[in-house]
Amino acid sequence: MLQGKHILLIIGGGIAAFKSLDLIRRLRERGATVTPVLTRAGEQFVTPLSVSALAGRKLYRDLFDLGDEAEMGHIQLSRVADLVVVAPATADLMAKMANGHADDLASTLLMATDTPVLIAPAMNVRMWDHAATQRNLVTLKGDGIAVVGPNDGDMACGEFGPGRMSEPMEIVAAIEARLTDGPLSGKRILVTSGPTHEPIDPVRYIANRSSGAQGAAIGRALAALGAEVIFVSGPADAAAPDGVEVIRVETAQQMLEAVEAALPVDAAIFAAAVADWRVASASDRKLKKSKDGLPMLEFAENPDILRMVSQMKHGRPGLIVGFAAETDDVIDNATAKRLRKGCDWIVANDVSPATGIMGGPENAVILITDDGADVWPRMTKDAVARRLAQRIADAL
Ligand code: CTP
Repeated sequence: MLQGKHILLIIGGGIAAFKSLDLIRRLRERGATVTPVLTRAGEQFVTPLSVSALAGRKLYRDLFDLGDEAEMGHIQLSRVADLVVVAPATADLMAKMANGHADDLASTLLMATDTPVLIAPAMNVRMWDHAATQRNLVTLKGDGIAVVGPNDGDMACGEFGPGRMSEPMEIVAAIEARLTDGPLSGKRILVTSGPTHEPIDPVRYIANRSSGAQGAAIGRALAALGAEVIFVSGPADAAAPDGVEVIRVETAQQMLEAVEAALPVDAAIFAAAVADWRVASASDRKLKKSKDGLPMLEFAENPDILRMVSQMKHGRPGLIVGFAAETDDVIDNATAKRLRKGCDWIVANDVSPATGIMGGPENAVILITDDGADVWPRMTKDAVARRLAQRIADAL
């Protein structure tokens, strides 16, 4: 239910704008107040009269409308809501948001707001796939903007593919997920995820087989319980979760800097498979084959991020969870690792190739705490993440 919640709905100029009329009805049925804003382009697709009639409220259209400014200034308008929803979010609106433009009412509200923002993109499939839109999407997710859709399907322009705006009820579900208070509301939680890449030369690097799937699932599960998640990710295959602040890094050193910048946090989950070593003097030129023999690589030890944060004297997160990827004597090794690193919990798993866990959809973990080892049954990485998030919520 959305009883008592206030949504500022920005309707952009796309054919999907007709679905936003239904979205207004669905939101109001659930008890939400909807203040609509219609862009100039949006007016080409739905009429101001139908929008304001369905919302049962004044419609805002112009940045420089003296009447509106006297009644409610645009800065105030941007902050009255519990959530700002942009539906449809066109390629143009996304580009404006990603680049900080403020040249009309909608983009100015989005720049001025201090409330969370959810966008429902809708555009032609080629426009969605375009490098510029994908770049803007990464930027927006990194800014903590939540995204719902787009869906695959037949498009009004006759093409097929991703670009259709999510259905009104899917958008309602995404709004409810953002606005429902969870047990981790008000908690700021850091998650590291994915592998790190340690350069050898400009084209080669040392890496590991981590897909980042378990870390992404944990970020998603924590956000679903209401946490503010700072997601520091190495170059992972798995997509970063929606609605979290994403910080992308490549090396262990960069990951440490991003982690330090994210502190203080209430809890920190170190799911990243950080490379233990880097090449001491990575070449800034591509190494060539030579008659003089094979290249000699000298290694240096990377900072142990989990250990450094666990042993902080001031500002240590209240709960620190490390991971232990082991291939033998899993419980003994992980128990020793917890003490050596100084973290509160260790999530241990057996990553021997026969288990199929590394890169696979499932995980079988043992949670090691002060109370000993708790062996969880094999389940999907999403289920592991949800169970861990609930344990974290119980502990904080
Ligand atoms: N970790 C980290 N920084 C590193 C290495 C590891 O933050 N430089 C974190 C990982 O994110 C994980 C935990 O430490 O939470 C376990 O890492 P792992 O590499 O398995 O442990 P090691 O200390 O390397 O122990 P060993 O080599 O004995 O397995």
